Amino acid sequence: MTRHFLRDDDISPEEQSEILALAAEMKADRFSRRPLEGPQTVAVIFDKSSTRTRVSFAVGIADLGGQPLIISTANSQLGGKETPSDTARVLERMVAAIVWRTYGQAGLEEMAKNTTVPVINSLSDDFHPCQLLADLLTIQEHKGDLAGLTVTFVGDGGSNMGHSYALACTTAGMHVRIACPPSFSPQPSVVGDARAIAEQSGGSITVLHSLDEAVEGSDVVVTDTWVSMGKEAEKAERVATFGSFQVGAEAMGKARGDAIFLHCLPADRGFEVTPEVIDGPQSVIWDESENRLHAQKALMVWLLEHA
Ligand code: CP
Ligand code: NVA
Repeated sequence: MTRHFLRDDDISPEEQSEILALAAEMKADRFSRRPLEGPQTVAVIFDKSSTRTRVSFAVGIADLGGQPLIISTANSQLGGKETPSDTARVLERMVAAIVWRTYGQAGLEEMAKNTTVPVINSLSDDFHPCQLLADLLTIQEHKGDLAGLTVTFVGDGGSNMGHSYALACTTAGMHVRIACPPSFSPQPSVVGDARAIAEQSGGSITVLHSLDEAVEGSDVVVTDTWVSMGKEAEKAERVATFGSFQVGAEAMGKARGDAIFLHCLPADRGFEVTPEVIDGPQSVIWDESENRLHAQKALMVWLLEHA
């Protein structure tokens, strides 16, 4: 049966380790795997803006011997004119996989249900699982074994990044802390899913509303924009609410001395993070951004092998 990657918990802990190991292997030998030789085409669809995702998928698909077909929803029949299921049926006759950055998770699910080729979520309102594969690869490179590490995600706990941190890091056996204002907590169903995963993996999930408490002794501190794509109209209200959740030197000083800092980017310096932290010695954001390429290539190889 075709496997899809719509949320971080679509893969088991063993499968996640397998994909991360493959990513490390392929990073060391960039052109070693060519499953898309032909070239076969992968459709990469964008309903929202992107720099890293667009470039890393386009380059990664080419590295695998294939060719990317970048589709902007504004110039396609998706986005109200044609259903995801009809689009899926058309695309599967021509492409090897579908990568889609969109708003609602339901569209991705409909796409996946109606196609025989793998569908990859390259960011929705609810999850950003490709980013998490890159982040886990980065954490592994800097800290070694993931299981047992403490990671604190600071910011909008109900955002795609907050949710993906909850699911992907508990899958990896990590202790996850989400630090957020109460009104921006993760969806209870996602916390419940993360808790069930953590019970099996030996990790844990805690939602906290105090930044100081949440970063205390952490191995990894992560933040993201306070204003995700689609939430621009709420900017003033969000900036006012998130003010006490800025990651600055003081917060990093409460984490472990050897803690690393991650941010999926794009960043708003002076809002969710100070320049001295994001551009400082503990920041690994450029490795993290490069790892989008390696992690997604491994994911595509793995999904094509399991199709
Ligand atoms: N981190 C990330 O997904 O960046 P883009 O929006 O530039 O793709
Ligand atoms: N949470 C951010 C991530 C951007 C890559 C957003 O959805 O805009």
